[in-house]
Amino acid sequence: MTEKRITARAHTNIALIKYWGKRDEKLFLPMNSSLSLTLDAFYTDTTTSFLPESQEDIFILNGVTQEKKEQEKISAFIDLFREAAGISTKIKVESTNHVPTAAGLASSASAFAALGTSLNELTGMKMDKTTLSTFVRQGSGSATRSIFGGFVEWDMGTNSFDSCAKQIDDASWDIAMLTIPVSTDKKKLSSREGMKLTVETSAFYPAWVAQAGKDLHMIKEAIAAKDFIRLGEITEANGMKMHGTMLGAIPPFSYWEPLTVKVLQKVTEIRGQGLPCYYTMDAGPNVKVLCRKSQAAEIKQILDDTFPENLSIFSGVGQGAYLLTDIEKGR
Ligand code: DP6
Repeated sequence: MTEKRITARAHTNIALIKYWGKRDEKLFLPMNSSLSLTLDAFYTDTTTSFLPESQEDIFILNGVTQEKKEQEKISAFIDLFREAAGISTKIKVESTNHVPTAAGLASSASAFAALGTSLNELTGMKMDKTTLSTFVRQGSGSATRSIFGGFVEWDMGTNSFDSCAKQIDDASWDIAMLTIPVSTDKKKLSSREGMKLTVETSAFYPAWVAQAGKDLHMIKEAIAAKDFIRLGEITEANGMKMHGTMLGAIPPFSYWEPLTVKVLQKVTEIRGQGLPCYYTMDAGPNVKVLCRKSQAAEIKQILDDTFPENLSIFSGVGQGAYLLTDIEKGR
């Protein structure tokens, strides 16, 4: 008997035009199209193998067997592949998150993109990347974009089959990102819960949807023109609009902490000194700074001197998800 073990790696991505809100929660169809940058510094490695004699899937994360609730979430995702491949065998999932220790940056994007890429091979589906991104989407929306590298658009589409990701540009033109870890505490409200509350209650939400479409159009023009300043300006404005929608929710909420504001102010100050850099934030207090790769060391030094207890992490541009091994070994 042979044991097939398939390992895949996927990098996390940071949205420059945010995905914030679903129009279909079951299928993970978004309210607006989004655009991201894949990062090489943070990634997940996931190995899958069949468990022919087992009644249950097994999910091991960073060496720890996960509780039933987590297991069920993963099983529901694996079911998408099992159903499509016409198989019912249970599967073992072994996952390792490669994020700097305690940076609080573990991401569902790299997790589901790595798992989906591995399952695509294990189950023999061998779908192309675009189709695979529609499967991965149903694990976590942001994972859709981690299938590709560089600048990636997730087109909201019209249905489950065409709501997919595509690479817009490989971002190989002096692009980098710094992450300033403001807090490592587990967030009180997940992005999933936060976006749902915003869609259902925020008076500002319709304006967000209208603006996101315009921002996406403009950022694609900036990318096509390789206009870094314009890219940064649109990124910064879009991220803040998303955070603005949360203040209009009932009850209002925010992921910001006092230190977050200080970091944002510092980034603005650095820019004022002639070093172009632009901030963005997701559903948490950490700040990501888009900058030119050639100026990243200089900007990092200023940030680290100012916030010595919150040292920033440099990341270059990451590639799309890929298979690491395909070992067939005798047992
Ligand atoms: C603020 O992809 O984590 O990071 O689809 O419910 O799993 P689910 O949500 P998730 O949301 C990401 C929200 C965001 C913006 C973005 O990545 O586009």
